[in-house]
Amino acid sequence: MKKTRIGIIGCGGISQFHMLGYKQLEAEGKAELVACCDIDEKKVKAFAEKHGFQRTYTDCHEMMKAEQLDCVSVCVWNSAHKDCTITALRGGANVLCEKPMALNAKEAQEMYDEAQKAGKLLQLGFVRRFGEDADTVKKLVADGTFGDIYYAKATYLRQNGCPGGWFGDRKFSGGGPLIDLGVHVIDLTRYLAGCPKPVSAYGVTYANLGMHRAESEMGWHVEEGEHPYNVEDLCAAMVRFDNGLTLSIEASFNLNIEGDVGDVQLFGTKAGTSVGQMRILTTKDGKFVTFTPEGEHSFRFSPAFTAEIIGFVDAAEGRRECLAPAEDGVWLMKIIDAIYKSAKTGKSVAIK
Ligand SMILES: NC(=O)c1ccc[n+]([C@@H]2O[C@H](COP(=O)([O-])OP(=O)(O)OC[C@H]3O[C@@H](n4cnc5c(N)ncnc54)[C@H](O)[C@@H]3O)[C@@H](O)[C@H]2O)c1
Repeated sequence: MKKTRIGIIGCGGISQFHMLGYKQLEAEGKAELVACCDIDEKKVKAFAEKHGFQRTYTDCHEMMKAEQLDCVSVCVWNSAHKDCTITALRGGANVLCEKPMALNAKEAQEMYDEAQKAGKLLQLGFVRRFGEDADTVKKLVADGTFGDIYYAKATYLRQNGCPGGWFGDRKFSGGGPLIDLGVHVIDLTRYLAGCPKPVSAYGVTYANLGMHRAESEMGWHVEEGEHPYNVEDLCAAMVRFDNGLTLSIEASFNLNIEGDVGDVQLFGTKAGTSVGQMRILTTKDGKFVTFTPEGEHSFRFSPAFTAEIIGFVDAAEGRRECLAPAEDGVWLMKIIDAIYKSAKTGKSVAIK
């Protein structure tokens, strides 16, 4: 069996989790760790040594010119997603690009078009789709347990949780908690609800706490010459979909809330659930009942990443359908663009 030739662009935090899947495939004799790239030479050398890559690069254009790669993970900061993804696609590779797809929908559309032109797979890093909890709820949705899902809530609130660095610098990140954390729960909701098409969004953003905390003992220090902190620290929004579903979204890096909250809640004509609690609320014989569904109930970070990478390689080689196609990344960026625009204009924004 021919081994899949693997490349990585961006050797920071999240790439280590991609390696869980690639190392498993390598151990099974199915993949070869060929090349990795980071603009930081020290980082790329250390990464190659730790994982056993054959060659290192500090420029992904050079890497894609020199190497023949089958599958490439793009794990760079958001503002570099478009260039690195398009470079890898043009170089003949299938690409798994981390979330969010890009800085905005225009860039995301260009990436999608390039994948179509190249005839290559472009998968999005929507890792929540690969969680065991998502599998369990997806099956219940398919069984009709919830009936018609008409309302949902996607929540990712942190009390004091800006990752700092480039995440707080709009030029590199495209925004704050909405584009960083919100994407996970918005996408999971949309995925569980059968990927309806968004039609409009109304949103608000606030930046009351982050900058103050950034300069205090409670947060982090922005030194001279480092990334400025200029993103929202709270976003709240409502999105309407073409099947009648309305989604309420809340995402924060900083909020005066006790502890952090992350959940997706679905409310249907027959039953409702919180994916985090994994309890189904419904009625039976004229009474309210709650039950715990069979199956796995948790989202486990490392197994989900392993499943995502193995799913990506399988989809790239035609063994299974891609679970997180680029098209859904483009829809997500359209939702995010509309929410940010609405927050600026104070008006509801149509999504096409
Ligand atoms: N799926 C998830 O749960 C999850 C979690 C964290 C981060 N992410 C996403 O992963 C991406 C990376 O985040 P991170 O936390 O690993 O950041 P990071 O800062 O730890 O790593 C990013 C790396 O990319 C490198 N880089 C930047 N531009 C480059 C380029 N043009 N070519 C090569 N290397 C380049 C940087 O030098 C850095 O080493 C982001 O898009 C982020 O949103 C996803």
